[in-house]
Amino acid sequence: MCGIVGYVGKNQAPSILIDGLNKLEYRGYDSAGIAVHDGQNINILKTKGRLSNLIKLVIENPLTGTLGIGHTRWATHGAPSDVNSHPHMSEDHVIAVVHNGIIENYMEIKAELLEKGYHFISETDTETIAHLIDCYYRDGFSFEDAVFKAVSRLEGAYALSIICRDCPGTLIAVRKGAPLVIGKGEGENFIASDIPALLNYTREVYFLEDNEIAVLTENSITIYDKDKNVVNRDIYHVTWDIEAAEKSGYAHFMLKEIHEQPKIVRETILKRVPENGDGIVLDNIKLDKQELDNIDRIYVVACGTAYYAGLIGKHLIEKICRIPVISEVASEFRYMDPILDERTLLIVVSQSGETADTLEALRIAKRNGARVLAIVNAVGSSIAREADDVFYILAGPEIAVASTKAYSAQVAAMYILTCHIALAVGKMTEEEFKAIRDELYTLPSKIELILQKENVEKKLAEKYKDVRNVFFIGRGLDYLVSQEGSLKLKEIAYLHSEAYAAGELKHGPIAMIDENTLVVAIAAQEELIEKTINNIKEVKARGAKTMAIAMKGNTKIAEVADDVIYIPRTMGILAPVLANIPNQLFAYYMALSLGTDIDKPRNLAKSVTVE
Ligand code: M6R
Repeated sequence: MCGIVGYVGKNQAPSILIDGLNKLEYRGYDSAGIAVHDGQNINILKTKGRLSNLIKLVIENPLTGTLGIGHTRWATHGAPSDVNSHPHMSEDHVIAVVHNGIIENYMEIKAELLEKGYHFISETDTETIAHLIDCYYRDGFSFEDAVFKAVSRLEGAYALSIICRDCPGTLIAVRKGAPLVIGKGEGENFIASDIPALLNYTREVYFLEDNEIAVLTENSITIYDKDKNVVNRDIYHVTWDIEAAEKSGYAHFMLKEIHEQPKIVRETILKRVPENGDGIVLDNIKLDKQELDNIDRIYVVACGTAYYAGLIGKHLIEKICRIPVISEVASEFRYMDPILDERTLLIVVSQSGETADTLEALRIAKRNGARVLAIVNAVGSSIAREADDVFYILAGPEIAVASTKAYSAQVAAMYILTCHIALAVGKMTEEEFKAIRDELYTLPSKIELILQKENVEKKLAEKYKDVRNVFFIGRGLDYLVSQEGSLKLKEIAYLHSEAYAAGELKHGPIAMIDENTLVVAIAAQEELIEKTINNIKEVKARGAKTMAIAMKGNTKIAEVADDVIYIPRTMGILAPVLANIPNQLFAYYMALSLGTDIDKPRNLAKSVTVE
């Protein structure tokens, strides 16, 4: 939540900061601001609302200076307003701070500062940080040391970028539990919450670790641990292009990312199951027979869409490998006192690799001796760095808040992992694996076929845009796909939508069905289709409009459902990745018809780095 940027160099900071914020707006978008040092003083422009409001403000009141920080906010403490927007300044305008995260003990520090005579104008926890640093600075500590002193008092998770009126060439970055990347330029250096903000300027980056503080000037980057020992960090060269983080002619990032799926699923599969190779390549992931023999319980833990991808993994590992798997959302896992020991494998799934609850689940598991395997997209993210093993999905930057391509790649990863485990524990023969492998290779072109017919979903969205309630139903793997379909519709079309195991409808929710209800039946598991057809009949009899997603050739379903979206035929276990694509397109076009902000839906942020 929240995007932060910082710049120190020879060029004008405002345009660089705004450009960076533009790439980070997906992280939060209820207000934005910049602070720029003009050589004498720090000047701030900030405003409630989207980045476009800030840009207008900057055009009307141009700032100059070669040092600055910027912020795009997802409110935690204090409603979105001009005054609660970042940056926040100390009372004497000496220190300016932008912050991503939450300071848990800010009330206690605020009380102390109030007693010392400080005044607060915002409701944020961040203003406390500006005053606290200022307080140590006034006590005679250098800017750097004042930051170290202040940071040692802060509890919570945060990333900070700080400048000081009296140090016009120094930018400080702090990280604890929220992402921060440092970009190394020539005669200029950068800070950002995420790589896309840096790519117009540099591909050489350092990932800051928790409890580290970096001091940047135009010609130097020094990383310290919390005790002010210098840390040597390897530089990471970013290989993907800026185009990957741009819309490339699509109306929305979400649509672009939906269309990237054939390529991404292909890359995820081919990296691990090379076409001319003998089997599955897991590189350094340690999951051989011996290791698996030492595991008697697997947890799959994640949030949101990543959790729904994880559910497919749970289903497959249990069904094929016959190993018990417990799935849990990370926000519950961390409080449910899970049974964990050295015979437990925790699989965490996360696009961003920064989701606070998932990260905490990982840490709890590790503290209790469990092994952690992370299925992650963002290279170098906290979850990737702290897990014992990482399965990168290689989806490239996902900018739209609604996750699409990451889900498909995560599900593809689950197929590969399941096959690997099944082969290792003797639950799959080479022939069975080869059959799945050959079918896996066909998935990208089958996704492409679905995408070529996106007009189908567009027309259906136009037809159903006035429904008030949507139920997604399915059985087995279809039910798991329903859950992701329902989430997509909620988050970008703001429609009341629920996913129900089709057999559960009669146990309560059917009471809600009326003519304002659309029921979307996922019916790609052919052995279960008869039963799902019965459920469609039941809801139709109660007035619902019905739409089904089924494999090509299934004509029976067309006799009952009002509309059917056909997907190419594939093996039942591989159907989820195909059946989910129409759900994505339907949600996208419903949102488009309803005029919502598709890439930045209200109240949401891409990366949930607070509990
Ligand atoms: O970055 P993560 O995959 O850990 O994020 C998990 C969820 O916050 C995320 O999937 C969220 O549910 C998406 N907005 C769904 O589209």
